[in-house]
Amino acid sequence: MPTQTFNLNGEQVTVEVEDDVRLLWVIRDILGVTGPKYGCGINVCKACTSHINGKAFNPCSVPVSDISADDEITTIEGLADTVDSDLHPMQEAWIDKDVAQCGYCQPGQIMAAVAKVRQCAEEGRKLDDAAIEEIRNICRCGTYNRIREAIYAGAENM
Ligand code: FES
Ligand code: FES
Repeated sequence: MPTQTFNLNGEQVTVEVEDDVRLLWVIRDILGVTGPKYGCGINVCKACTSHINGKAFNPCSVPVSDISADDEITTIEGLADTVDSDLHPMQEAWIDKDVAQCGYCQPGQIMAAVAKVRQCAEEGRKLDDAAIEEIRNICRCGTYNRIREAIYAGAENM
């Protein structure tokens, strides 16, 4: 069985798993990190949104062998550590705005929001409604209005 090594939430991890297993299953089923949710498995719903080297990606659609030893994968569990705090400002905003309903999509929504704020800053773009609408994460409970409010609030403190 091949071995796969990468960095997950600040720690180097090595697992024995076939090359074509999708990273989401490695993270959830082998490593027990269940923040990234399984919705569609085909890169559509975005429930599994996490970060690779600080950018949003969907591990349900990436074979684990595509991940290098020096790639840094961050899930919602490791997000606060990136700012060395108990909660990331975006998580604080999510609580303040009482965003979550069933909660299933919310880890992915927060990870997508943080990545979008960073992307806009890097590109020198204003974070406006058009930028927020580029986030394609699906919420079956329809929390989109509160998500938008929380992204604006969280971005203020990032
Ligand atoms: S489970 Fe990954 S995008 Fe739907
Ligand atoms: S809060 Fe239920 S799916 Fe988004």
